[in-house]
Amino acid sequence: MYKWKEDVRMKTILMDMTKGTDESLMSEAGKIIREGGLVAFPTETVYGLGGNALDPEASGKIYAAKGRPSDNPLIVHIADMSALEPIAAEIPEQARKLAQKFWPGPLTMVFRKTDLVPMATTGGLDTVAVRMPDNEIALELIRAGGGYIAAPSANTSGRPSPTKASHVMDDLEGKIECVIDGGPVGIGVESTIVDLTEGAPVILRPGYINQQMLEDALKVEVTIDKGLTANDPSIHPKAPGMKYRHYAPKAGLVIVEGKAEAVVEKISALTEVDVKEGKKVGIIATNETAGLYRQGLVKSAGTREDEITISQRLYSILREFDDMDVDRIYSEAFETPQLGQAIMNRLIKAAGHQIINV
Ligand code: TXA
Ligand code: MG
Repeated sequence: MYKWKEDVRMKTILMDMTKGTDESLMSEAGKIIREGGLVAFPTETVYGLGGNALDPEASGKIYAAKGRPSDNPLIVHIADMSALEPIAAEIPEQARKLAQKFWPGPLTMVFRKTDLVPMATTGGLDTVAVRMPDNEIALELIRAGGGYIAAPSANTSGRPSPTKASHVMDDLEGKIECVIDGGPVGIGVESTIVDLTEGAPVILRPGYINQQMLEDALKVEVTIDKGLTANDPSIHPKAPGMKYRHYAPKAGLVIVEGKAEAVVEKISALTEVDVKEGKKVGIIATNETAGLYRQGLVKSAGTREDEITISQRLYSILREFDDMDVDRIYSEAFETPQLGQAIMNRLIKAAGHQIINV
């Protein structure tokens, strides 16, 4: 396997497309992909680290740059429906319905793969995860790059996914050819992954497109992979990546769950003890509660009135607390209606399952 070596640092080009796509820069970025290099780019969910999905060596470089275990498959990004058939051995009717309704958008679907997709891209699986992102820069880059871009989130493995180009530069500068800055992303948590290879649709990773939205579109029951919520370690998640402790901040993170008032009281009490011991404490709150904390470094993720503000800010806050070298982070729980499942899935993983109920 290709191995990225510490001593081969390269100059990472930062392309500014915050004011819109740029034709000549885009053709340069497309050329990098077609020649086997890596370009990080914005999508509507998080920034992706892109390489030619049909080139096993490019996939190898992605794993190496991220420091990611190579049994963790990559999502193949396409820009047009006509690109699906060459890589999916079978396209179930339900997948067509979901594509019609949610593509381009934050939904990834798992198909049985054709031989066109190298095993290096799918981590040795005979299935392939595919998504069409809802972002103009991403779509143009996919077309300029030859039609198939493998892209995991553009973070170093184990760090929160990047929601701004500066996060990507922090993690990958010197390791990849190019980063396209398209400004901050809109959703902030990774796409929903749905497996359609077993007949009944199963959610392998919750995201913006939630269970209810999928059931409404398909008019059948959609289940959630048992491996995501099981306490039994012998039940593995079906998406290999979901078994890793991703999104882990350097400081210990503890979630406090319950009625708003009780949560504020509990976090305040815990913070008081830590501060007395000389610890630096970060608190993840919301606009509704931020003013109620008397101690600690308080950051508001957003407002419960508009839950996407919370998903947008969450990973960024975890990185900010990392940079501030806090010793401990307390977070309120965010069981909001549409995005709650996706947000809490990430937060619980970041917390290594440390949850206090009040
Ligand atoms: O929103 C997103 O999906 C972002 C942007 C960049 O598109 N991408 C992303 O990729 O989150 P990544 O590599 O960080 O996460 C991909 C997840 C992993 O948990 C992986 O195990 C799972 O998708 N996955 C990929 N291919 C799969 C397959 N064939 N079967 C099951 N799970 C798969
Ligand atoms: Mg990731």
